[in-house]
Amino acid sequence: AKITFQDNNGKEQTIEISNGLSIMEGAVRAMVPGIDADCGGACSCATCMVYVPDDWRDRLPAKDANEEAMLQFCPHADERSRLSCQINVSDDLDGLRLSLPESQH
Ligand code: FES
Repeated sequence: AKITFQDNNGKEQTIEISNGLSIMEGAVRAMVPGIDADCGGACSCATCMVYVPDDWRDRLPAKDANEEAMLQFCPHADERSRLSCQINVSDDLDGLRLSLPESQH
C-alpha cells in the first residue's frame, strides 16, 4: 500500500509498504525521518507515534489495551495518535496519510 508521511514542516514522503509489515517497519526500511521505533516494534517505547487524520481513524484496526496504555506515556500524543508498529499494512490502507510529531521524545 502507498502511505504518505508528512513531517512537522509539511514535507511529504510517499512510500510503498508491503502487506504484512507494520507501518513502522516500512517507514524504518525506507528511512522516513521522524519514526524512531526505539523498541523495535514491541509496543513499549511510543517513539513510532503518528497522527492519523479524522477520515482515516475509523478505517484502521482498533487500538488494543497495550497501545492505549503506551500512548498515555507519550508526551506528544493526542486523540489522533497511533503507534505505527501496531498497525499492519494491507490493501485497505492504500492512500493513508499520516502526520509526524515534531519530536518523538
Ligand atoms: Fe516502540 Fe512502536 S516501535 S512502541
